[in-house]
Amino acid sequence: MATQPSADPVPGATIAIDGGTDAFIHRGPAVGPESLSRTNEEVNGERMAIVSLNVTEVTDQFWDAQLAAYTTKAVRTGDVLLASFWARCGSSMTGNARFQFDFERTSPPNEKCVSLGFAVGRQWRRFEIPFEVTMDTGAGDSRVAIQLGQTRQSLDMAGFSLRNFGPDIDIETLPKTELTYDGRASDAAWRAEADRRIREHRMADLTVSVRDEAGHPVEGAVVRVHQTRHGFPFGTAVAAGILTQPGPDGARYRRVVEELFNEVTFENELKWVNHGFGTGTQVEDSIAWLDERDIPIRGHVLVWPGWQWLPKPVKALEDRPVELRQIVEDRVRSAAGRYAGHLVDWDVLNEPFTNTDLMRILGDDVMVDWFRLAREADPDATLYINDFGILTTGARGNPQVEHYERTIRYLLDNGAPIDGVGMQGHFGGVLTAPDDVLAIIDRFAALGLDIKITELDINLPSSPVQAEYMRDVLTALFSHPAVDGIIVWGFWSERHWLPDAAFFDAEWNMRPVGLAWYEQVHRAWWTNAEVVTGSDGAVTVRAFHGDHTVTVDGSPAKDVMLDADGLTVVITAAGDQGG
Ligand code: XIL
Repeated sequence: MATQPSADPVPGATIAIDGGTDAFIHRGPAVGPESLSRTNEEVNGERMAIVSLNVTEVTDQFWDAQLAAYTTKAVRTGDVLLASFWARCGSSMTGNARFQFDFERTSPPNEKCVSLGFAVGRQWRRFEIPFEVTMDTGAGDSRVAIQLGQTRQSLDMAGFSLRNFGPDIDIETLPKTELTYDGRASDAAWRAEADRRIREHRMADLTVSVRDEAGHPVEGAVVRVHQTRHGFPFGTAVAAGILTQPGPDGARYRRVVEELFNEVTFENELKWVNHGFGTGTQVEDSIAWLDERDIPIRGHVLVWPGWQWLPKPVKALEDRPVELRQIVEDRVRSAAGRYAGHLVDWDVLNEPFTNTDLMRILGDDVMVDWFRLAREADPDATLYINDFGILTTGARGNPQVEHYERTIRYLLDNGAPIDGVGMQGHFGGVLTAPDDVLAIIDRFAALGLDIKITELDINLPSSPVQAEYMRDVLTALFSHPAVDGIIVWGFWSERHWLPDAAFFDAEWNMRPVGLAWYEQVHRAWWTNAEVVTGSDGAVTVRAFHGDHTVTVDGSPAKDVMLDADGLTVVITAAGDQGG
């Protein structure tokens, strides 16, 4: 096994855990011992020992699956320690791995000196975590725990060291890893351009012309334009069980759906395997509730072509391709047919990069068939492909992006009636720079299809960077004329696949990331104007596409819908208007 790099840039430190990476073991009840593996690889130009933990089961807590290493020297209150290591995501559903870094006493109640959440993408990344010790422990009585439970994922780790600088060093002089992104500065160049594009593509002129009863222009009339709904889809995933639930949480959940969003998708309920979410009645009642409020519904998803997402009886047909083809076709026909007339979009095909089982057996052209069948069964739905790892990788020329473009071109070339490109948008370890987000959209915009961000979330501990990135990624996406909607993957921590990403905590307090959404979608991009007519009796407001209420004092309010074409409304003022 390769030894740990011994280079120690800061003199005077002692090693608190002998053996570095090799000292890590698997701790926690949730995954078997086979989940830990060790290899040797080049990391950053140097051969290193790598330890990997693969979490194969969803667990209740981060600490249910961890890489742990025990101190081999005593540490004392006031000592300043620096943990340094390389890490990367081995596998996960988002391309990012989430972990919690703790330094804690080994005996209950496991007093901690540091407990910090991090995320990392598929590229090796160096972590530097300085912290001050707040307890005295002998050798072996404290440990580093890199906790990986809660979701299925694997983490590779290398080049670990834990150095003790003693009590006399200023902790601020040590290196420290902080997640950030290019273009975060308030004067970053992309911002002005994005604002200009938003004004151009997401707003239109709303002219209000005020006349008196004789038809003469009224000068000086006070006109108010209040937006009531966005034209652009700002949506969320929902759980039918909560949307139809009696009691205060259900009521609150419904209120948030109505107040913060104008499009909805079911997180699990329309999948072939619904993971136990939502009974048939709950789904039907949810659809009725949404239809009543004119809230469009996206369908997710007709075929998710990996065994793990398919019903067991489908896998049983692995060696009987004719029957296998048939059962999948029946699924597409029946699901698309059942909801026809109620859905604006269908994700026909989900995650074809990592889920290839059906295509491997049936051939790539089976994907074309699914799109055809979906179109026949529900001619009005916009038909999408959907995948992760497109916006969230940061890098250009990434294999998953290449594969996505190739697959879409293949579908188009073979006559699949595909209308839209779905990009999931599960961010975590890599916060793609707004300029790169725009470049990725440019690339797919060239295909000439609709583009929707279908599953946006930022899986980080609640922090300024999480909120600022939400604001900035929303701004970049909303500014791009090829983007046709932005849907977040849930909003309440009690019903979220990655609870840290939720806009609201369990008690419905809005977190900074939720506030960032609200500030953009319902403040910055929300028309609320009070203006006065000129000598021609008219005034023009540059307003966001969507529904607005126009009022002129003394006259009944008028509801209007503004789209890219712009609009002129004539309002007859009551007698005492203007001058
Ligand atoms: C997830 C749900 O959020 C979970 O509740 C469920 O257990 C698994 O599926 N990409 C997708 C979504 O296309 O369907 C996934 O949803 C998240 C990743």
